[in-house]
Amino acid sequence: MKIINVVGTRPNFIKIAPVMEQMLESDGIDPILLHTGQHYDANMNQVFFDQLGIPRPDIDLGVGSGSLASQVAEIIKRFDVALDKEKPAAVLVVGDVSSTVACALAASYRRIPVIHVEAGLRSFDMDMPEEINRLLTDRLADLLFTTEPCAGVNLKREGVDPDKIHFVGNVMVDTLLKHRRVANETSGVLDRFGLEKRNYAVMTLHRPSNVDHKDVLTPIMQAVAEISQKIKIVFAVHPRTEKKMREFGLDNLSDSIILAGPQPYLDMLQLMDHAKMVLTDSGGMQEETSVLGVPCLTIRKNTERPVTVEEGSNTLVGTDRDTIARAADEILCGGGKDGRCPELWDGHAAQRIVNVIREWGPSLINSGGR
Ligand code: UD1
Repeated sequence: MKIINVVGTRPNFIKIAPVMEQMLESDGIDPILLHTGQHYDANMNQVFFDQLGIPRPDIDLGVGSGSLASQVAEIIKRFDVALDKEKPAAVLVVGDVSSTVACALAASYRRIPVIHVEAGLRSFDMDMPEEINRLLTDRLADLLFTTEPCAGVNLKREGVDPDKIHFVGNVMVDTLLKHRRVANETSGVLDRFGLEKRNYAVMTLHRPSNVDHKDVLTPIMQAVAEISQKIKIVFAVHPRTEKKMREFGLDNLSDSIILAGPQPYLDMLQLMDHAKMVLTDSGGMQEETSVLGVPCLTIRKNTERPVTVEEGSNTLVGTDRDTIARAADEILCGGGKDGRCPELWDGHAAQRIVNVIREWGPSLINSGGR
């Protein structure tokens, strides 16, 4: 059973690593790795392959950056050519990025079954391109793997056949649990930035809704500058955000904000593991901090990952300056959630996925995905 596994962006690499590993060990599955090229900078791309031991992609579409529509269009065009040549039995996509929806759509037009890992998450916020990507991908998918119970509820409410939905846990957590020890042993990132354990905060921010508008980014960065007067902050800044901060004159607000670029996986894991708190608008980091038991302040009004708030260590703080600063103060005064690890986030999600694919594969393929 030839399966094309699609990756395009940083979080996709983290999610596909354990899936590829399990597939390569499994009889009867011939996995192909396809990179769309959506993320291409070495520090957002190659370093993840090296550190996570992901095989070199068999196919690289090399699409690069562009507007959302042009990026999706280009991926569909180039992926269609790859599908024609490879004729896979199924296409597996992960997460909610442009590459996910584009490849799901191209495969569906050819009636090739689509497998979606991390299905059913909903922020109910159509201002996020990821919500559009999630809805469309799940509508097209033939086999849907979920990370938390609420995702299954969402899918059933949308009319997805319950037989197609499998609650398997979280592949991002498989990768975290596998690499936590090695990150502790090999990463010198704390020394490099002069950090003491539990005496610094880590931050990322890259959502267009947070960083593209001056009137939104300014209060966020003012809150961060205020917090940095009390605790050092390592800001692993995304290229998009760095550009906007410079444009809005927000790149020099405090000497206690360390403007580090995107961090390699093991360094980021080490930074999160020993932080006093994490400030972020990333989806994956809400999950990772919940597993690590580190308080996370999510700079968004909503989350598609409610289990991280209900059970994990995540708190939604929105984008208001005072609310963000107050929530950070609470953690600095000894408050903040440590939470507990959600159900099935145990390091075996990829194994469960591959077991289901092996069981379901033949009937899925015979039905032409329907
Ligand atoms: C994408 C995903 C987002 C995910 C994030 C993880 C979509 C719609 N968004 O956002 O859901 O959380 O990845 O990081 O798919 N750039 C570089 N180098 C790179 C890649 C991008 O400099 O290697 C710059 C370019 O200026 C580009 C911009 O970042 O225009 C945005 O990149 P893009 O891939 O479109 O989206 P992300 O913001 O990274």
